Amino acid sequence: MSYFKVLAFEKEPFSTSPDPEFFYLSKEHETALTNIIIELRLKRGLSVILGDVGTGKTTLSRKLVQELKKREDFLFHIVLDPSFEREGVFLSSLAKNFDISNLNDNSLLDMRETLERFLFQKGVAENKTVTLIIDEAQKLDENSLELLRVLLNYETNEFKLLQLVLLGQMELHFKIMNIPNFFDRISFKYTLNPLDFDETKEMIDFRVRQAGYKAKMRLFLDEAVREIYQYTRGYPRQVTMLCHKALKNLVLKKRFVVDAVSIREIIEEEIKSGWHRRDLLLQKNSY
Ligand SMILES: Nc1ncnc2c1ncn2[C@@H]1O[C@H](COP(=O)(O)OP(=O)(O)O)[C@@H](O)[C@H]1O
Ligand SMILES: [Mg+2]
Repeated sequence: MSYFKVLAFEKEPFSTSPDPEFFYLSKEHETALTNIIIELRLKRGLSVILGDVGTGKTTLSRKLVQELKKREDFLFHIVLDPSFEREGVFLSSLAKNFDISNLNDNSLLDMRETLERFLFQKGVAENKTVTLIIDEAQKLDENSLELLRVLLNYETNEFKLLQLVLLGQMELHFKIMNIPNFFDRISFKYTLNPLDFDETKEMIDFRVRQAGYKAKMRLFLDEAVREIYQYTRGYPRQVTMLCHKALKNLVLKKRFVVDAVSIREIIEEEIKSGWHRRDLLLQKNSY
């Protein structure tokens, strides 16, 4: 029987899949999400969200998709891995995903023109906001970035025809900084930082409740959250993984609450087995 059923959860509280149901709106996630939506509604073109691995970019993008699905005036597509070998491959994939049937793949110029006509038809004639969201955007190569720059040039007097949201690791910043015509076009840029202590605590409680835990007693004692925060520095993915292990141990050891000792046990176990992240420990020692 899975541990979450033993603890009377309806769902797994600390799954690491980017499920929008478990999305805790931290100050930074909320700022990012609200601003992206404003930029999209104003059709201002390009938003860029940067963040280290595990800060919640993919989860944020899923939440954004969930929001856009509610709006009929949006036509959007999300690219999960933008490693396109050639511009033609990128263009064909866009055409396929936006349902552009008559995209002529004879020449790149033709393909671009067809795409431009499509954007004009949807954006101006049908009054839709066409949006392309790209996760893992640090993987975009020079050619793909150049194509995106060209697409961002398509505009009417009032607005851009394609809205672009890029989410990527910090190296994306260096990539686009070197393309002045690209960097200048960013209308909203934001860096997601890890959570602070209070947010770490709130995120844990939020996920526990969201998974259907109804008891009054808190499952994670403050002293446990303090250990979790110290070890993970508030990186949501690390927090999620550690909490998952803590609940598994709780069931194995037939305990009822997660305390500081049980978190320390897990961390020590990781150190012994050599599976810990050295950078996290270094950080902890200098804490
Ligand atoms: N705001 C959040 N609320 C709840 N859980 C989150 C949040 N952000 C991230 N997580 C958790 O951390 C994990 C890693 O987040 P993810 O979005 O994949 O990070 P990134 O894409 O930046 O590497 C997610 O699977 C999710 O479980
Ligand atoms: Mg991601």
